[in-house]
Amino acid sequence: MDPTFVSREQSRLLRELTEFLAIPSISALPEHAADCRRAARWLMDDLTRLGCPTVKLIEGDGHPVVWAEGPEVPGAPTLLVYGHYDVQPVDPVEEWVTPPFEPTVRDGKLYARGTADDKGQVYCLLRAYEASRGGDGRPPLNVHFIFEGEEECGGHLIDELLEREPERTRADAVVVADMSYYAAGIPAVYTTLRGMCYAEISIRTLERDLHSGTYGGVAPNALETLVRLLADLKSEDGRIHLPKLYKSVIPPTKRELREWKRLPFKKKEFLRDEVTGKALTGLKKYSVFERTWALPTFEIHGIKGGFVGDGAKTVIPAAATAKVSLRLVPGLSFSQVAKALERTVKALTPSYAHVDVRILHGGDPVQVDVEAPAFGILDAAFQEVVGRTAVRVRAGGSIPIVPRLGATGAPVLLTGIGLPDDGLHSPNEKLNLSQLWEGINVFGRFMERFAEAGSG
Ligand code: BES
Ligand code: MN
Ligand code: MN
Repeated sequence: MDPTFVSREQSRLLRELTEFLAIPSISALPEHAADCRRAARWLMDDLTRLGCPTVKLIEGDGHPVVWAEGPEVPGAPTLLVYGHYDVQPVDPVEEWVTPPFEPTVRDGKLYARGTADDKGQVYCLLRAYEASRGGDGRPPLNVHFIFEGEEECGGHLIDELLEREPERTRADAVVVADMSYYAAGIPAVYTTLRGMCYAEISIRTLERDLHSGTYGGVAPNALETLVRLLADLKSEDGRIHLPKLYKSVIPPTKRELREWKRLPFKKKEFLRDEVTGKALTGLKKYSVFERTWALPTFEIHGIKGGFVGDGAKTVIPAAATAKVSLRLVPGLSFSQVAKALERTVKALTPSYAHVDVRILHGGDPVQVDVEAPAFGILDAAFQEVVGRTAVRVRAGGSIPIVPRLGATGAPVLLTGIGLPDDGLHSPNEKLNLSQLWEGINVFGRFMERFAEAGSG
């Protein structure tokens, strides 16, 4: 790999990435469907320029998947590169210092929606592939690219595609760069991802909203019924009240717990700078790492119902809906938790109310065996470029398609070039440019080393 690639090409790379980030590919908002398609097209053009003989847009019900295959390199191993081109909504937009789709560099950091999650990292992998090519333009190994546009919104297109065509995941290793370093200067490889069960709970207690004076005192209030039910699902001590939930959880190993204790971590600064709250919540007898990496969660994301306009309106709401999700850890499955949630909600609903539980989407947790040789090769690349190997940690977040990416047994390298303070899903999301440049060198060297190891 040409060590001068980054310094030589920097201004072009920044220009190209800016163009990619300027496309508002917000998958959750229907009015941005055309933008998602534009982002997919942008990737296709890039992959074509990179010399991929196969570049396809795979359509279905939802935002398309981009599939590409680099030129065939006989005898060399095959790497599958996964990423997502869709991004989160930008609200509250007034909190952005510069507009979310006008990428801006301030103090060596590139600010825009999608810089870290995940367009900047997708771009990093594409440039790493470019940089890994020899003087003749030939890549050192076979690379297949799969980029989806529904990671952030729980879409099913990539899942259906890979269920139908599992041979697409046949590879010697899979790279997923959608996470961050553990801290500045400390790269990370993730041993688990949490799974997810996202649901909408709807309560109806009346045929129509009523006057709260005339009927207040006797008429069942749907919002009240709903919030009582939600409070029954999780108590103040952080315990989630689903049967067998904690019994099914596979606890972290002694070795993991020992390693997590050794990680640099300052609870006070974490609370102040990242959480930005006054106190941490949850099951007090577990560490922050155990609570965010190794235990399930239950969160309420939003409640609809009653009167939410300006001013006052005296009404007894007839209906109310809450959006909630559980994060799942190894030992728990999406289908098991979805069933337990449905059953428990029904049991907790008073007889005067009608309840409906709609499971919107979900995915199983992931556990990766990080002993495969590919992890040693990635470590060697980190050592060479960053000066140290990656720490083994877990991720609190989820990437629903990962279980399928690893279904053929190929090692899945869950890693990334972001930093913990990138502000994923938040206003002023950013990516440090130094991380991007470093990442291109890391993944470029990884591709070369992986090729050498595989054909040697
Ligand atoms: N890149 C994140 C996942 C992630 C975040 C992994 C932090 C590790 C640490 C991904 O884009 C994401 O946000 N996933 C969603 C998935 C959900 C919509 C099913 C998530 O975790 O909420
Ligand atoms: Mn992501
Ligand atoms: Mn995300």
